[in-house]
Amino acid sequence: MAFLEIDGLKKRFGNVEILKGIDVELEKGGFLVLVGPSGCGKSTLLNTIAGLENITEGEIRVDGKAINDLHPSKRDIAMVFQSYALYPNMTVAGNIAFGMEMRGVPADERQKAIDKVAKTLQIGHLLQRKPSQLSGGQRQRVAMGRALVRDPKLFLFDEPLSNLDAKLRSELRVEIKLLHRRLQNTMIYVTHDQIEAMTLADRIAVMKGGAIQQLDAPQTIYNRPVNRFVAGFLGSPAMNFLKGELEADDAPVFRADGISVPLGRYAFDGDNGRAARPCIFGIRPEHIALGDAAKAMPFTAESTVEIVDPMGSDTLVWTKLGGQIVSFRVEADKTLSNGDAIRIGFDPARASLFDAQTDSRL
Ligand SMILES: Nc1ncnc2c1ncn2[C@@H]1O[C@H](COP(=O)(O)OP(=O)(O)O)[C@@H](O)[C@H]1O
Ligand SMILES: [Mg+2]
Repeated sequence: MAFLEIDGLKKRFGNVEILKGIDVELEKGGFLVLVGPSGCGKSTLLNTIAGLENITEGEIRVDGKAINDLHPSKRDIAMVFQSYALYPNMTVAGNIAFGMEMRGVPADERQKAIDKVAKTLQIGHLLQRKPSQLSGGQRQRVAMGRALVRDPKLFLFDEPLSNLDAKLRSELRVEIKLLHRRLQNTMIYVTHDQIEAMTLADRIAVMKGGAIQQLDAPQTIYNRPVNRFVAGFLGSPAMNFLKGELEADDAPVFRADGISVPLGRYAFDGDNGRAARPCIFGIRPEHIALGDAAKAMPFTAESTVEIVDPMGSDTLVWTKLGGQIVSFRVEADKTLSNGDAIRIGFDPARASLFDAQTDSRL
């Protein structure tokens, strides 16, 4: 039995089904990240777990006990929102201890809890300030402190860092990761930032249109996406997609304008995936090699540089393959110019093949 179990959860607002049968299992101490485009239902899912929204169908269990009919205050779940939602008239210490005060926790115990959380989050020097005297990053730390002080069964974070600038976001991301490692609490974290998703999660759920497309370890989602949407959603620069035909006799190949990629090393999902059909061939920019490295690959082709995009840490190069534009990454010190003749190559074992009609992985 997993620590958190969500079974067939549906949520309707009026006639509109927003969550369409969500199933999740999360182990105790696990870090699940929910990603997906805006409006796909991430916040709604988090709100139903916290009890801020009722569910229409299904069940949510924590530690084997159904919680979906419990009042939010009885669920032992803490939530941190994108907007910090601090009480403006209270000090930081007051904000952190407010919930405890409401529950009648004695003052000396409150103080102990505040001190512990302040130490964990390094906000001891801010305790007597009002929220208006804090920076965005400090406010978000206080909001996390308010959640941490309760030592709840489950932490929910709804895009907690998306109001912060990039530098602060990456700092706090590391802090959240360290915090989770230290406290070993169970977390569900919503983000639309794929770097946060890949770095924080031990499980990622990719959502679209109120349904989970794939729930897996980050590396599995990255390397074996179940459909074209998941493949395109995670990874920056994005996976290249080539339209073509799967031709299958004993030795299946992918064929597009002028190229024929042998698929002997490709791990098909099942045998019926091998049937001939129109398909999409996906290969990530970092899996395309150049020059001598390309020659050593099972598939290689000659091409011409179309565009060179220096990105600082490395360079993205655009070229054509099978009559279609693809990008690949090279080291920043590589000197390439538009029009250069090049050889590129890759190992089809690293590719992802999708049915052109259904977008499902083959
Ligand atoms: N209280 C509500 N009443 C009606 N529709 C809602 C309500 N809350 C959210 N929605 C709709 O549900 C969908 C999912 O919203 P949300 O869960 O906020 O998405 P996300 O967090 O993934 O951006 C959106 O289409 C939104 O308009
Ligand atoms: Mg949201």
